[in-house]
Amino acid sequence: MSVKYEVRDGIAILTLQNPPVNGLGLSTRRGLMESLQQGLDDAQVKAIVVTGGARAFSGGADIREFNTADVSREPILNTVITAFERSKKPTVAAIEGMALGGGLELALGMNYRVADQRALIGLPEVKLGILPGAGGTQRLPRAVGLEVALNMIVSGEPVAAGKLDDTKLFDLVVEKDALHAALLFAHEAAAAGTLPKVRDWKIKHTNAEGFLGFARTAVAAASANYPAPLKCVDAIEAAVKQPFDNGIEVERQAFALLINTPESKALRHGFFGERAASKIADIGADVPVREINRIGVIGAGTMGGGITMNFLNAGLPVTLLETKQEALDRGIATIRKNYENSAKKGKLTAEQVERRMGLITPTLSYDDLKQADLIIEAVFEEYKVKQAVFTQLDAIAKPGAILASNTSTLDVDRIAAFTKRPQDVLGTHFFSPANVMKLLEVVRGKQTAKDVLATVMQLSKKIGKTAVVSGVCDGFIGNRMIEQYGRQAGFLLDEGALPQQVDRAIEKFGFAMGPFRMGDLAGNDIGWAIRKRRAIEKPDMKYSKTADLLCELGRYGQKTGAGWYDYKPGDRTAYPSQQVNEMVVQHSKDIGVKRRDISDEEIVERLVYALVNEGAHILQEGIAAKASDIDVVYLAGYGFPIWRGGPMFYADSVGLYNVLAAMRRYAKGHEGKAWEPAPLLVQLAEAGKSFND
Ligand code: 3HC
Ligand code: NAI
Repeated sequence: MSVKYEVRDGIAILTLQNPPVNGLGLSTRRGLMESLQQGLDDAQVKAIVVTGGARAFSGGADIREFNTADVSREPILNTVITAFERSKKPTVAAIEGMALGGGLELALGMNYRVADQRALIGLPEVKLGILPGAGGTQRLPRAVGLEVALNMIVSGEPVAAGKLDDTKLFDLVVEKDALHAALLFAHEAAAAGTLPKVRDWKIKHTNAEGFLGFARTAVAAASANYPAPLKCVDAIEAAVKQPFDNGIEVERQAFALLINTPESKALRHGFFGERAASKIADIGADVPVREINRIGVIGAGTMGGGITMNFLNAGLPVTLLETKQEALDRGIATIRKNYENSAKKGKLTAEQVERRMGLITPTLSYDDLKQADLIIEAVFEEYKVKQAVFTQLDAIAKPGAILASNTSTLDVDRIAAFTKRPQDVLGTHFFSPANVMKLLEVVRGKQTAKDVLATVMQLSKKIGKTAVVSGVCDGFIGNRMIEQYGRQAGFLLDEGALPQQVDRAIEKFGFAMGPFRMGDLAGNDIGWAIRKRRAIEKPDMKYSKTADLLCELGRYGQKTGAGWYDYKPGDRTAYPSQQVNEMVVQHSKDIGVKRRDISDEEIVERLVYALVNEGAHILQEGIAAKASDIDVVYLAGYGFPIWRGGPMFYADSVGLYNVLAAMRRYAKGHEGKAWEPAPLLVQLAEAGKSFND
């Protein structure tokens, strides 16, 4: 039974029991209706308390149900909430953990709400491309006021109950044991005999019209690609201007429309994809995890410093090792500067800065790493250097310590072989800046032990990363794919496009940044070095020469004040560069290509399908275990538009048949090899299937 019914001292306690977060799926909704009725029918019962236990009152509607018929099967959530609202006996929500989405809407349908001050309260539906569909847009503004409600609904960000203590939403906010407090409250409510209903409350605002106008303009500007936020504003406006039931109807219609939009489907795919990424087929819940209390980081450069900060932020002590005192001092100073900048922006207190800095033990000696449970190296990207480090680690690390490499291009199996304990070695590929970027590729070597992988996946959650497992290959999932995308961007220049046109087209598609602006940010010299290596390792792999010519001009990007674009001192705006554009046009002449007009559609297809095709290879080779893992890499780490669900999901939505047809079209007259379709893509397209089936 997904709702437990019990009566204690004249109060019926309805406990939601649908782990993990008491999603309000069909059986839970039925359970609520039945146990409500039981409480109403029981003459002993004076009041009804609904609780969900310590983890969650409720995380909202069961999102897994959205693609099924159950979503609209009665009792739907509105029916349940109306039944509570009509209850002749007082109803009280006892909120601990969280009341999100439909969970908060359910609580809003009750007469009273008692919350733990730490409980997270929010209507996050907009993040799934929908809007609160069970009265949230109508009741929340009545409970917390127009402005607070609009911000919560449009941003989807939850707030701690303690922060809403001064609103009418909660009758009582407590420091602990909300259920106990709610039971006491229920006795008082039963004695008072009043049954307040949020639907009857008025929304007070001195200038609602003006505020809504302002909100509409701001939301429209910030959400050009999503219909949901503006629909939220519409529904809230109805709450202000129309009778309650009309407002509910406006909300209902918007919900019905949004739930079927491609944007919502894509966002839901991203949500589940991220959670699915932590589930590894051959690693069950029975695989134990190792205890990780002390971290070692080797190399205090760009990556080592950022990696260290992740652990300090999570309260884990880090021993940071360098070869030279100056490098160590420099690394520590950079970490401090980053924290002090956060403090200046009000994100950290001075005390928090000191507490975090106090967790670092700087050292030049490997002996200080003997106690570490996990050691991550972020030293120079050369086998010789990695070998020296791993040989020393092998000699000093305690048995069972996990040894990780942050390499971005080297073979993790070869690195593991530098030790006598390859089962304890894996890759942790952080993205720069490592303290900011959410994505972490966890590279599973041939011999990596299951518990090592499970431990690192669990730890990655603790440090706030979105972790995806990748097999060993050059570039892992993300960079291996981006290389193909970059190659197409280069060919487009050769054939007739200019950098700003390519960037504009793909940014209009929704990428945070086009390939050329991205190159300028990351440094074009990095790709240059990789291509030089490639020329030896994979001489067949063709690239446009324009990127090399750019580097030969010393235009490495923002760091040299010039790259694909011109930059002005202290200004990160990318200004189209005459010198670069002339160089590009001249290069086409030099290689005998007659430049042509290239449509934005072609640019987008070629860049995105290049990702898709390489993604298909990666999937087929088992480097990624599932298509959604690839999508998560691109959503969390590469600025792929989240409302398109990632490259593989996007290809599915276009239809693999169409993707393949476009690729075959591009193969004619273009650099042929780049468009050789991955066998898996052909196979799925011919069978009428999708990557994410
Ligand atoms: N429905 C179904 N499953 C849910 C769920 C939901 N609303 N929320 C979370 N889950 C599942 C996750 O899929 C995951 O399952 P798994 O263990 O099988 O992978 C599990 O709960 C735990 O989730 P997390 O790993 O995310 O755990 P956290 O503790 O980090 O976060 C959370 C918990 C804050 C609830 C987070 O999962 C979350 O933000 N969930 C989405 C909440 C949401 O959007 N609610 C609104 C739903 S739409 C709605 O209510 C419509 C209504 O207005 C009509
Ligand atoms: P970096 O040059 O900024 O830092 C490397 C640091 O390692 C230097 O401070 C150096 O003094 C130190 N070091 C070198 N040899 C050492 C040794 N034997 N023992 C201890 N310390 C030593 O380099 P960066 O960019 O931080 O890269 C480090 C690693 O991370 C490389 O493997 C790189 O491929 C990888 N990486 C880099 C990314 C980036 O964007 N910079 C992204 C993802 C991975």
